Amino acid sequence: MNKSTPQSNDPMSDLTARVIESMADTRDPRFKEVMSCLVRKLHEFIREVDLTPQEWIAGIEFLTATGKMCDSKRQEFILLSDTLGASMMVVMLDQARAERRNEGSRQATVATEATVQGPYYWEGAPELPLGSNIAEGVIGEPAYYSGKVTDTQGRPLAGALLDVWSGDGEGNYDMQVEGAEMAARARLRTDSEGRYSFWSIRPSFYPIPMDGPVGKMINHMGRDPNRPGHIHMMVSAPGHERVTTHLFVANSPYIDTDIVFGVRDSLIIEYQRHEPGVTPDGQTMKSSYWSASYDFCLIPSGL
Ligand code: BEZ
Ligand code: FE
Repeated sequence: MNKSTPQSNDPMSDLTARVIESMADTRDPRFKEVMSCLVRKLHEFIREVDLTPQEWIAGIEFLTATGKMCDSKRQEFILLSDTLGASMMVVMLDQARAERRNEGSRQATVATEATVQGPYYWEGAPELPLGSNIAEGVIGEPAYYSGKVTDTQGRPLAGALLDVWSGDGEGNYDMQVEGAEMAARARLRTDSEGRYSFWSIRPSFYPIPMDGPVGKMINHMGRDPNRPGHIHMMVSAPGHERVTTHLFVANSPYIDTDIVFGVRDSLIIEYQRHEPGVTPDGQTMKSSYWSASYDFCLIPSGL
């Protein structure tokens, strides 16, 4: 025992204190803060649930299986973090931090809320002109997306980048098929008035990957593995905080029970149904289609 470690009559509390004290010489104060808190909470947890050796080894085996399910295409640990709400907690904290930095400045519009990125982002989607159909040949009902990108003072951001991706109308992502090409993905830049528009499909709900240890955990918890219908967007502009978010289909099944807790009320949008005819961008549609509109608002960075 380190001589400076305070001793109590409780050997378990002494153990916690000794582990924390053992980090006294680290030169990284943030690491020390994080690890000390982690050790304290971990010990507290073990004591609170009165963890047995069998339960402890079951936990170790679960984490080992989770690690074995991770490679460049599958990240079971992020899935674990997502399904336990940890990813969303980090996302919300990060955005609250950016909002605090922006607090002093006048704000006309509320910044777009962020949500989880998920495992299906694929860097390098094709950059397409505004108005393009980014889901040519993809299963699903067509949907026209439009809106603008502004800063928190309501000023339009010209040349802002929207990196967009979604599954198809049956809830499958291109990446889930070995060797598949990109589909329902694109990067688009806003025009001089900060406006964007493109065609894609109205996305469907779908289950997260359930063939690994996290799937077993979800089943054991008695939870439903589905996410409500959504389209992903990563929106960025020079001098502004990038926001990684989704637009959720209002009234989609599972909108109240998203397995990764990613739904935020401000991101739920009504898709309007239209009969065949002339579309908002002047095309003639032979089938019925949907339209969805959303304005993104970015927080200035470096304040
Ligand atoms: C997704 O929306 O793509 C997703 C997010 C978290 C876990 C699994 C999928
Ligand atoms: Fe998704």
